[in-house]
Amino acid sequence: MARGARRSSWTAAAIATVGLGVFAAGRGTLDAPMIAASLVVLCLGGVIGSLGRARVVRMPESPGTSRHSVAEALLANIPDPVILVDRRAVVIEVNPAARALLPALKLRHPLSFALRAPDVLDGIEEVLRTGASLKTLYATRVPTERAFEVQIGALPMPDGVVGGVLGGQPNVVLFLRDLTSARRLEAMRVDFVANASHELRTPLASLLGFIETLQGPARNDPPARERFLGIMKTQAQRMARLVDDLLSLSRIELREHVPPTRPVDLTRIARQMVDTQGPLARDRGVMLSAAVEGAFPILGERDELLRVVENLIENAVKYGGSGGRVEVALRRQTDAASGRTSVELAVRDYGPGIAAEHIPRLTERFYRVDVASSRDQGGTGLGLAIVKHIVNRHRGRLLIESVPDEGTTVRAIFPAYEAAETPDVLAEPA
Ligand SMILES: Nc1ncnc2c1ncn2[C@@H]1O[C@H](COP(=O)(O)OP(=O)(O)OP(=O)(O)O)[C@@H](O)[C@H]1O
Ligand SMILES: [Mg+2]
Repeated sequence: MARGARRSSWTAAAIATVGLGVFAAGRGTLDAPMIAASLVVLCLGGVIGSLGRARVVRMPESPGTSRHSVAEALLANIPDPVILVDRRAVVIEVNPAARALLPALKLRHPLSFALRAPDVLDGIEEVLRTGASLKTLYATRVPTERAFEVQIGALPMPDGVVGGVLGGQPNVVLFLRDLTSARRLEAMRVDFVANASHELRTPLASLLGFIETLQGPARNDPPARERFLGIMKTQAQRMARLVDDLLSLSRIELREHVPPTRPVDLTRIARQMVDTQGPLARDRGVMLSAAVEGAFPILGERDELLRVVENLIENAVKYGGSGGRVEVALRRQTDAASGRTSVELAVRDYGPGIAAEHIPRLTERFYRVDVASSRDQGGTGLGLAIVKHIVNRHRGRLLIESVPDEGTTVRAIFPAYEAAETPDVLAEPA
């Protein structure tokens, strides 16, 4: 009899698992959490079955207990919320992710106390009525706006009363999949395509306009032709720069998970860029100075770090140049708690500064405080997005501090390279 009971409980659980598997395959996302969740359901079915068997034939509980702990451990490790309710929609089992999402969730209390979602409650009823799995949506507004896809599946239970749960009647398992970041990414992708096309279309429209003028009214007007060709060249360069920036952004993103392994000296990179940007600063009447003494080695990619320093100095000169000076500084700092040393590169200007509401968005692609003024200066709005990805790849942090009317300081902070700090390791072409 015990063997029969065991077989029926495991069969029921296996059916539930296969059912969930089919359900997942049907939605085309038989992913790792789903497989893990199915295993948990399988274990839970077995556990509940074995508990039921223990009550009937009074067998020792140790095998069931160990399976129970396996089931609990599996449930605890599923990152998505999982809730098991009985046929009256009373909560039987939840995992920590579900408790974190719905703190009001309590065992042996109706699900509706914690989850006020008529669609989900109706879905449970329908699953119990038809036996077929379904999915619905659940959205929260407080504390933040989040959206979940809820998969509701029937879970056949073994016969008999098991731990206060009526056996022989199907229970219902709910899987919640967080759609918030997927939706945000989708919105960003749509915005990105719209922004990139818009940025390319503007110079392209101007090029086409000038080509028509050169073929028509300005055909025999050499001075006008020269002037128009000059403008066309600027527009074409702008498009080329935009395409270059987009390509380097995607190249850096591709490699973002692979941190650089070669030591480089930030001092040389900062000095080289201060020299390169000297003419731009002079043209705008800005005094560009560098406070960099000694070597500051980090693990880095030289070309990428040059782009970071270039962009920060260029921004400070272009947008903060009215303050008359821009300072580049390098310093070492040690975190008191972890004892880790980092190298901070700071670029400071004394210009008009940036209003606080813009600061968190500056590293978004194409985000510019003043679009017209940035465009006039040849900017694409991709500079700081590239800087942020490079800093991330170097396992660093980017901090932007600004006080309106006083100026802006942008800091890129990298982990210091501490092993084998011998000068020849840092030898590299200047
Ligand atoms: N030091 C600064 N002072 C004031 N505003 C700044 C400063 N640095 C950046 N900004 C603002 O941040 C925006 C985004 O900078 P970012 O470097 O990403 O783009 P960009 O300079 O416009 O274009 P690109 O870098 O591609 O030439 C700028 O358009 C400007 O409005
Ligand atoms: Mg820039």
